[in-house]
Amino acid sequence: MNSNRSLLLKKADQVAKVIKDFMNEGKNFKVLAHHDADGISSASIFVSILAHFKTKFHVRVIMQLNEKNILNMLSSKSDVLIFLDFGSGYKDVIKNAAPENDIIIIDHHEVLKSFKGDEKLIELNPHLFNINGSYEISSAGLAFLIAEKVIPEGSLNLSLLAIVGAIGDRQDRGEMRSLTGVNSVIVQKAEDAGLIKCKLSLRLFGAEIRPLIKSLEYTTDPFIPGLSGDEGACYKFLRSIGIEPKKPDGKWKTLNDLNDIEKSNLTSNLIKYMINKGMEPKEAESIIGYTYIANNEPPFSPLRDIREFSSLLNACGRMGKGGLGIAVCIKHDKAIEEANQLVVEYRRKISSYIAWLFENPERIRKSRYIQSFHGGSFIEDSMIGTVISVTMNSCLFSQNKIIIAFANSDGQIKVSARSPPQIIGVNIGSALQEAAEKVGGKGGGHDVAAGAFIPIGAEERFLQILDGLIEKQLGSKKL
Ligand code: C5P
Repeated sequence: MNSNRSLLLKKADQVAKVIKDFMNEGKNFKVLAHHDADGISSASIFVSILAHFKTKFHVRVIMQLNEKNILNMLSSKSDVLIFLDFGSGYKDVIKNAAPENDIIIIDHHEVLKSFKGDEKLIELNPHLFNINGSYEISSAGLAFLIAEKVIPEGSLNLSLLAIVGAIGDRQDRGEMRSLTGVNSVIVQKAEDAGLIKCKLSLRLFGAEIRPLIKSLEYTTDPFIPGLSGDEGACYKFLRSIGIEPKKPDGKWKTLNDLNDIEKSNLTSNLIKYMINKGMEPKEAESIIGYTYIANNEPPFSPLRDIREFSSLLNACGRMGKGGLGIAVCIKHDKAIEEANQLVVEYRRKISSYIAWLFENPERIRKSRYIQSFHGGSFIEDSMIGTVISVTMNSCLFSQNKIIIAFANSDGQIKVSARSPPQIIGVNIGSALQEAAEKVGGKGGGHDVAAGAFIPIGAEERFLQILDGLIEKQLGSKKL
């Protein structure tokens, strides 16, 4: 094992010991988690740990970490505060809100460099050990490392949630969309235990359980112009390449109903179609990749395909129902049913936002290094990030400019940023951290996906500062 990994594991060991001591002392735990799939998976792992030891705890899933949210959660100076999937960029905010509490941060975002150490604050973050938190391990992976130490005899099942978190955060950046780094070690453990099966296939959404026509319609990674979100177009496309969407008995076919020749016909025609629509061949070919299947889930469960599982959690969190996401993870009765209904509503919203953007592409403004649009109050702040994640590879956006989107958010502006894969040498997490601070806001994130909150009216100045910072990061390189 390389030395960075062994240092990370040593730190996880140390954090696990601290948590065990606090549990033995009978302390009350307050857990705050980020509202995306990684945050919810991490929270679910912690709920399993704390419940296992019958510890008193409260858990809340939120979009934004700020003083108000921390104070709302605190009830006493002796509460132990655990931050999951955020916190490393917010240590100053946390200390201001809870100067006397014990604080544990489990995060994989860029770390706030200006913060000096504090004896009541302990942080587990891969960046502190030269491990890239953008794709080598997610917060759920870190939470799993702790679970392994705290409940060695009963933690293996939680490895699935670690994989859900990593996939949710799009950490599958290895060959054929595989997980790499510490994530791949966790995948191996889950595979060895028979919990998961990795297979190379067409990465159509929920292909294990849905009619082919639906999984094609629901596929947005990659976004297939003209097919994603359009059932009628998917029907015509399948027929045009000689694949009947229905079986002779009138039931819809799933991907698994196709024989090998039909599957390869579908694959090659889909790739050809995407290239004809102007997509980069590499992007089009990314439709083939690894899928991760949870072996123990029943055949028609949305939790069987880990990509679908993670998007279910993402929908729960971004619709303000993080608690439902946790209930899904810990297999609470009826939770999946309710979450499935929520996903329908979530999809409807995201589709309407995407249609709004496609109908008005002039809303996207371009500067030297940035392309940006403002969703105002039309696009919900919690979903603006998903809107760019889904459309970033479509013809709406150039692949050599950073994408920035704004949305109104309760007296301030939510900023979401994504960097297309073609751009090398830019870290938008640190750029957003700096630009947001300069306009009186707060931001951070990863090299390719980041976010911020800034004051209303600061958008133009923020974009100008960001353009300058990206130019500086690129140095002599040009986009
Ligand atoms: O909200 P969105 O999906 O755009 O966030 C992208 C990434 O930026 C996420 O990993 C999120 O945790 C991070 N982020 C951050 N600080 C913020 C907002 C978002 O680190 N203020």
